[in-house]
Amino acid sequence: MAVTGDPEPATDESETEPGAYEVALVWRDGDRASIRVSADETVLSAAERANLSLPFGCRTGACATCTGRLLAGRVEHARPPRALKDRHLDAGYVLLCIAEPRADCRVEVGVDVQTELVSNPWK
Ligand code: FES
Repeated sequence: MAVTGDPEPATDESETEPGAYEVALVWRDGDRASIRVSADETVLSAAERANLSLPFGCRTGACATCTGRLLAGRVEHARPPRALKDRHLDAGYVLLCIAEPRADCRVEVGVDVQTELVSNPWK
């Protein structure tokens, strides 16, 4: 299941490895990081490889602990994102433990994103 954010300018292919994308991680406290994520790797795994700490629980798309919000770009969930309802997906929420990039992306991350998801049932 693909989730699409706002269009992001294409990356200069001459500076990138084929099948890998630049994923910008944005925390609400203003922190930012940028990681390279291959098309067959999840955003959570790539963040861990870069020694960045993101919240997670089940790692199978069932608990929503790893929820991020796609601000730009496109990801595809490697398995059904059972923890998210259609309205969550429509609002750009993604499960980073199973989300693989299909374009350069910008993703809001951190516990605040998951808290927002559960504190307001209409989101
Ligand atoms: S860690 Fe549970 S849904 Fe991602």
